[in-house]
Amino acid sequence: MSRIRTLIDEATIASKVKELGKRITEAHRGHELVLVPVLKGSFVFAADLARAIDLPLSIEFFACRSYGDGTESSGVVQITYDLTKPIEGKHVIVVEDIVDTGLTMTYLMENLATRKPGSLELCALLHKPARTKVPVTIDHLGFTIEDVFVIGYGLDYGEKYRNLPYLGVLEPE
Ligand code: IMP
Ligand code: MG
Repeated sequence: MSRIRTLIDEATIASKVKELGKRITEAHRGHELVLVPVLKGSFVFAADLARAIDLPLSIEFFACRSYGDGTESSGVVQITYDLTKPIEGKHVIVVEDIVDTGLTMTYLMENLATRKPGSLELCALLHKPARTKVPVTIDHLGFTIEDVFVIGYGLDYGEKYRNLPYLGVLEPE
């Protein structure tokens, strides 16, 4: 068993998500948005973020698998669930839990860009700059964190801990 150290508590996450929602609302005044949460990790963040945005919006999920050795993504990305509607001319905001090496997001943003959206932005809850392999523009960022493996608030370790209401770090006993 491992202990969980709190990295970012519930109240801090909630106020940051409200702030991101407000910023997105102001930046896109007059637009209708398409939120694209990247499954599975961003399902909790996206649910809260959607309710913090005061604009008409629709949700289109996207899921991909990145081949690698388990903890490290390789940049070879397979789409496992695609958008159900065209996004041509739409104002799209991709919602991601964490940008780590940047390989997944680079692939995904390039893929979505070929579908000719009216605008395409990335909103990520977390960024680990120490692990960057490919720089990714994050238009709306929650928190920059150190190089630790985080769980909770949608993020998993071996598919567990997604239901933790806060962001934590697993520590050996
Ligand atoms: P990237 O291609 O290395 O940027 O991979 C990003 C993906 O790896 C994220 O969308 C997460 O699914 C996963 N990931 C990266 N770091 C963590 C972490 O600290 N905890 C949980 N999942 C992570
Ligand atoms: Mg993810």
